[in-house]
Order: sequence, then C-alpha cells, then structure tokens
Amino acid sequence: MKNWRHNIASKITIVGAGNVGAACAQRIAERGCADIVLVDIVNGLPQGKALDILESAPLLNFDSHLIGTNSYDETANSDVIIITSGLGRKPGMTRDDLLLANMKIVTGVIHNVMSYSPDPIIIMVTNPVDAMTYLALHTSRLARNRVFGLSGVLDSARLSRFIADELEVPVENVSSLVMGEHGKNMVIIPRLTTVSGIPLTKILAPEAIDRLVARTLKGGAEIVGLLKTGSAFYAPSAAAARMAEAVILDKQEVLPCAAYLDGEYGIKGTVIGVPVKLGRNGIEQIIELELTPEEGQALAGSAEAVKELVRAMKLGSEEG
Ligand code: 2OP
Repeated sequence: MKNWRHNIASKITIVGAGNVGAACAQRIAERGCADIVLVDIVNGLPQGKALDILESAPLLNFDSHLIGTNSYDETANSDVIIITSGLGRKPGMTRDDLLLANMKIVTGVIHNVMSYSPDPIIIMVTNPVDAMTYLALHTSRLARNRVFGLSGVLDSARLSRFIADELEVPVENVSSLVMGEHGKNMVIIPRLTTVSGIPLTKILAPEAIDRLVARTLKGGAEIVGLLKTGSAFYAPSAAAARMAEAVILDKQEVLPCAAYLDGEYGIKGTVIGVPVKLGRNGIEQIIELELTPEEGQALAGSAEAVKELVRAMKLGSEEG
C-alpha cells in the first residue's frame, strides 16, 4: 500500500462506495480521526471517489489517508468496519422489501471482512438495518458489543431538526430519543425528548408533537420521495460517522443504536434500537430506561417485527 501515512492510529473500512459510503468516507476523512479504506465491487468507483476526497485534503487541512479498492486485502486489521453495501429504496418501497437481496450481499461482505480483520467493530448501515445487524452478528460470530446498527442516531437527528425548526431554537438545544426499529415500528418518546432540559411535552402542543413524530417516522421515505432515484445519504452518513468516531476516540458517548438484546427491556434474542454507550469496545453499556407500559409495549412490538424479518432470513440458529 503506497503512501500510507502512519500518524493516524486507527483504520476504518467502509464497504460500499455508493452515496452513503462515499459521504461517510468524506466526513470521517475531514474530521481526521482515522485512515480509511473504501471498498466496492465496481471497478474504479471506490478508487475514484477515494482519490477525489484525498485531493481535497490540502484545501481542508486533514491528514487522514484514503484508498479505494475492489479487494479486501487492504482492509486487513481494520478497527471499525462500516457496511453500507446493498440495494437502497426506490419510491414506494419499504426498507423490509430489501431484506433477501441485501441478506445475500451482507453475508458475502461479512465473510470477506472477517477473513482480514479478526476482531473488528462492525457498524451496519444496510437496510433493513435491524435485521442486517442481526445477520452481521450471526455471520461474524463476534461478541454482541462489537456489532450494532445505524438507526436511532439518524431518526433522532431528524426529529431534533424538526423540533428546532418548529420552536425556532438552535438545534443544539434539542436532544431527541428515538428507539425501536428503524422503520415503521420506530418508537419515539416525546417525554424523554428535551429542549434545554425541558421535556418536549411541556413546551410543544400534543398536535404539533404528533405531527413532528409522524414526519420523523416517514423521514427516510420523505427523502426517497423527493430524490426519486435513491435514498438519503447526507444525514445517514453523518450519523454513521458520528458512531464510528465515538468508537475510535473512545468517547463513551450515549447514542441510540440497533443493538442485540439479551433480556434488557424484557427483550431477548433480537436486535432493536436502544440507547447505548459507545466507546473503544463498541457497545460499552446498554442503557435501560424505565418505560411506561405503553412505551414498553411499543418497543416489544417493534422487536417482534424485527424477529419476523429475522425468521424470514431462515438463518437456522436463533443464536447471535
Ligand atoms: C433513511 O432513513 C437510508 O434508512 C435510511 O434514510
């Protein structure tokens, strides 16, 4: 590997050089916290995008190095692997419609990355993300703290944006909590969403909250509907980069992620979005909040929906 610079200690592989993968590479590179390998099966695509990002370094003053490649050799000993490869949604499709096609792609990717990196942290982005995270955990045989998916970070960001606009406050005042499936069974908890510490339920009328919650639920579909030929990538890539950075910099940051539960929240044997603490070991802690019976029920229902997708993959063993 030529011109590899060793002043940056961590290595992140991003699989899939489509919109999400490439934007994620750009965001991580610009923050300068890791060197990046961008992998894709399309000849020239990861090479071209990596080189293009790299050529922006003198303008933006970052030292991360990037390479694009069609082989997995260069991914060896990655600290973090972000998987974005797979089909995206077209208008009218749900994330679940992608299940079987993306299952094949993700299974192959996991075998490939695992043969070069023995103990990585895997961040799953491919949809339907909860089921794909389960699949990655099952296929990689990694410990459950090392495999998690992008869900609530993105959904919470969308809700925070909408709340900030509605209340005309800076977005940094807003802290949103979205749990559950990254899909129609998302569990949005307004009483635990705050504006400078004030619960949303005390500062915004119920009708307005319902409207913003409904928009968040369909946040991905709203973008698909506008773009027509693809799905969102600016916010998803920002969310994945934020998760990777929490790991690489050992930030111990609390973020909602798709995690495998083994009894937490009374849920066992499936992946679902819950708040976790992210650090160098991946999920350092699963944070168990006290939910109302309705919220608990919604989360359990959401977990059941993911279990159904997992069953449809016919993986054989229910073991993660
Ligand atoms: C979204 O919500 C791509 O699932 C992603 O936009």
